[in-house]
Amino acid sequence: MPPAERIEVLRRKIRSHDHRYFVLADPVISDYDYDMLVNELRDLESAHPDLITPDSPTQRVGGSPSSSFPVVRHPVPMLSIGNTYNDEEIRDFDRRIRDLLGPEQAYAYAAELKIDGVAVSLRYENGALALGATRGDGEQGDDITANLRTIRSIPLRIAEERPRLNNIEVRGEVYLPHDGFRDLNALRAEREEPLFANPRNATAGSLKLRDPRVVAERPLRVFLYTVRFEDEAGALAEQPELDSHFERLSWLSGQGFPTNTETRRFGGIAEVIEFCHAWEERRSALSYDIDGMVIKVDSIGLHGELGATMKSPRWAIASKFAAQRAVTRLLDIRLQVGRTGVVTPVGELEPVFLAGSTISRATLHNEEEIRRKDLRVGDTVFIEKGGDVIPKVVSVDMSKREAESKEFVMPTACPVCETTLVRVGEEVAVRCENAACPAQTQARVTHFTARNAMDIEGFGPAVTEQILGNDLIGDVGDIYRLTREQLGALERMGEKSADNLLRGIEASKSRPLDRLLFGLGIPHVGERAARQIAGHFRSIDGIRAASEEELVAVPEIGPKIAESIVSFFRNDRNLEIVRKLKKADLRMELEAPEGGADARTPKEGGGQAQVLADKIVVITGTLPNYSREEMADKITAAGGRVTSSVSKKTDYLVYGENAGSKMQKAQALGVSLKNEDEIEALLSGDQAT
Ligand code: IVH
Repeated sequence: MPPAERIEVLRRKIRSHDHRYFVLADPVISDYDYDMLVNELRDLESAHPDLITPDSPTQRVGGSPSSSFPVVRHPVPMLSIGNTYNDEEIRDFDRRIRDLLGPEQAYAYAAELKIDGVAVSLRYENGALALGATRGDGEQGDDITANLRTIRSIPLRIAEERPRLNNIEVRGEVYLPHDGFRDLNALRAEREEPLFANPRNATAGSLKLRDPRVVAERPLRVFLYTVRFEDEAGALAEQPELDSHFERLSWLSGQGFPTNTETRRFGGIAEVIEFCHAWEERRSALSYDIDGMVIKVDSIGLHGELGATMKSPRWAIASKFAAQRAVTRLLDIRLQVGRTGVVTPVGELEPVFLAGSTISRATLHNEEEIRRKDLRVGDTVFIEKGGDVIPKVVSVDMSKREAESKEFVMPTACPVCETTLVRVGEEVAVRCENAACPAQTQARVTHFTARNAMDIEGFGPAVTEQILGNDLIGDVGDIYRLTREQLGALERMGEKSADNLLRGIEASKSRPLDRLLFGLGIPHVGERAARQIAGHFRSIDGIRAASEEELVAVPEIGPKIAESIVSFFRNDRNLEIVRKLKKADLRMELEAPEGGADARTPKEGGGQAQVLADKIVVITGTLPNYSREEMADKITAAGGRVTSSVSKKTDYLVYGENAGSKMQKAQALGVSLKNEDEIEALLSGDQAT
């Protein structure tokens, strides 16, 4: 096959797999096979650079950072829509429509989710994505084509065969799903960058980035909800056979665009209102934020008749949800001592149901925040769930304040060990500086045993409390000296659970160096920093010997982290912990062979031991050649972690015969699925993860 033809075949295949993966969340080939197609295309394109076209799947992330975005004028203004806040206002909207259209005219409504993101417009010329823009002031926006091209669910070319439907402008909403938002903020926290307040701000911030390569790392998504067909001259070309909004959505979906599948069509406004209420109740079940519903007259022909005011069309209205707010009582303000001794005030609330969960606590941040809001124990308070799903206390209902209420005074001593609290420099936070404070020890043990650190199964909060309460350990180094007798003697701990816990402790000895380093809980050293440092110095002794200068020379490591590490290893107590861990035979060195470029991409180093480093794997069903235990051992030996239930964090599901609900859940979550052959190929280290 001539290269030009093969290139086209490959592009078509890759486009179709991208669509299955990113839009339908239903991939039909393995990651490995997909990578093979992309590699083949890349190779052919580099051998024949003249055949590279901008709509090739290899060209999503391109260009160099731009200093500013060109301004583009929208051919048709991007209007906003009117808001309603109660049923009566929705009925008023319906009455206005009926009055405008006259009593004879029948009409239906489409009702859909109002996605809380950022509006964008995408222009396709002859079927290829030509321009992507922000709404701006509605008349003109920014040309952010390079950034929008990085969103993998946006097709670079549409599938329509009829040329007259190939010049279109589609509009929709870019958003960040909750898990992507949480991951992004977690990464920013690690890097000590300011956090985004909610997914919408994170989306807007991402689309404004100058470097498309950074945008490509943000898991942005999009739903498209309108399309305008144009003729070659750019004038509106009506499509009478596609007169319904509802049907246009399915046309869009047929072209490969992500559309929201919750849109419904209704004959009357009463059903629309019911649908809106149902979603107001159910919104927290979604994996992204919505701030209301949008109600649209379904017939596109009628849109023309109804027209628009200066600001908004008459054929659509938004039904906004009431803020996710609840009223409750502040029962107490407790101080929580973190693993580094920072003391945080936490509000104990009278339990209240808000947006899908019962809330009984909320962080009050620090003394200054409490003073600013004048929060007092016994107050009736308003709490709100923001986009980030973490509840916060917004204000006090002063009309309900009891006369005898007292201003909150920050205690001067640690609530647990009674050591005098100190304020560090200019910080608003106060700290308990007693490293032996039981609350700190507990927080450090919890951090050390947590899933993303040493992942000791069975070491939950209750067990930790019991172990500490009985003085069985003084620090995390002692965990590996726990005996069957000690554990078995604990209340509510049977022999079986004691054995399970010991097995969990034993298994944790093989966690890679970066997880151990993170688990030590050195202030400012997050998971990512730990990976960088472990990959660079390759052993705990290497890290211990490193100077601040050597540490800041590591990519992404700043002076704050460097200083924190050096001071950690200067402390005798900490050195004692490291000594105990060494004695217990934990992995104190990076297992990948020397010379590998980067510990995070061990496959490039060729070391099998790390092929699955950091990967979370679930095994389900009956495998053809191995028992589940044998497979689990193979995965653990390659640095992976085997867990029992599928979640968003799961990287691979290894499946065999009679795989059931775990398989379904993994598919729904977009987890990569591997059969025995595929995981073996991966373990043999010769393919990309
Ligand atoms: S229709 C002319 N549908 O809400 C009407 N808008 O407040 C065009 N939005 O600017 C908008 N989800 O950014 C429409 N399903 C949806 C929407 C939606 C979110 C946003 C959009 C618009 C704003 C209006």
